[in-house]
Amino acid sequence: MRRLVSETRLHPADLILPVFVREGAGDPVPISSMPGVVQHTTDTLKRAVTDAATAGIGGIMLFGVPERKDAIGSGATDPDGILNVATRIAVAEAGDALVVQTDLCLDEFTDHGHCGVLDGNGYVDNDATLERYRDMGVAQAESGSQLLGLSGMMDGQVTAVRDALDASGYGNTPILGYAAKYASAFYGPFREAVQSSLEGDRRTYQLDPANRREGAREIELDVAEGADVVMVKPAMSYLDVLADAAASSPIPVWAYQVSGEYAMIEAAAAHGWIDRRRAIEESVVGIRRAGADAVLTYWAVELAGWIR
Ligand code: PBG
Repeated sequence: MRRLVSETRLHPADLILPVFVREGAGDPVPISSMPGVVQHTTDTLKRAVTDAATAGIGGIMLFGVPERKDAIGSGATDPDGILNVATRIAVAEAGDALVVQTDLCLDEFTDHGHCGVLDGNGYVDNDATLERYRDMGVAQAESGSQLLGLSGMMDGQVTAVRDALDASGYGNTPILGYAAKYASAFYGPFREAVQSSLEGDRRTYQLDPANRREGAREIELDVAEGADVVMVKPAMSYLDVLADAAASSPIPVWAYQVSGEYAMIEAAAAHGWIDRRRAIEESVVGIRRAGADAVLTYWAVELAGWIR
């Protein structure tokens, strides 16, 4: 009876797995603050992608960890940069079975760790960054990315990348706008995952956790700029923002259950303080119940195995 009257169901197709790929790695490298998650080699990536496809999940989101970084994040636009290489591999492995998505942001590739290029005063230069994003978008589309995840929170980024894609013959490549992305402590373990060199914080471009209306406004702007999907991130501390977006958005709304959300549950479960499986299922059901059409979660494949 409970199953029959359940209002929210989990389905593998609504789950997306974030995947890290490390340039030059000979073996997968465990991420200590994310037990169970690794930086893949280009070789182990293949297995991860086919496992994801076999599990029936909706997609993967690729992040690159380059060997070398510089001020403008050159590796992001290099066709032989790790993210573009990983994209070609993932598309060849399983591009027909799930949606291969790519993180479109400079932070993994810059030596200062910011999501954009800096001006003379060390501030992120919004408009100069848009030029880099345009090139990065075209490079990712050329590598076969099936959905570009714009996570940098620059103003006007969706318009800029849409325009560049259309002008380069990639009018059919869709855009996921990380529209309401908050400056969050819950990205902590991700910094280890991508070996971020960031000092300071992202508060000149990511949202203030205190602001709900501003989140709604950012969603509206990305929709108006031509995003095909919008995202709220992180998920569990922003369910009100997510519910607002789900109620008003004419396009799909996704949520990202981020690294710190994963780490908290894994850590508590490892201590025997909570029931791991129930906590994972409850957390993702809660995100779906609040209105997410799909959820990015590091448990995507394991969870898909339980709910199938
Ligand atoms: C930016 C990006 C970040 C995450 C996804 N994309 C880091 C940040 O904005 O600081 C965080 C994801 C996570 O914590 O799981 N490229």
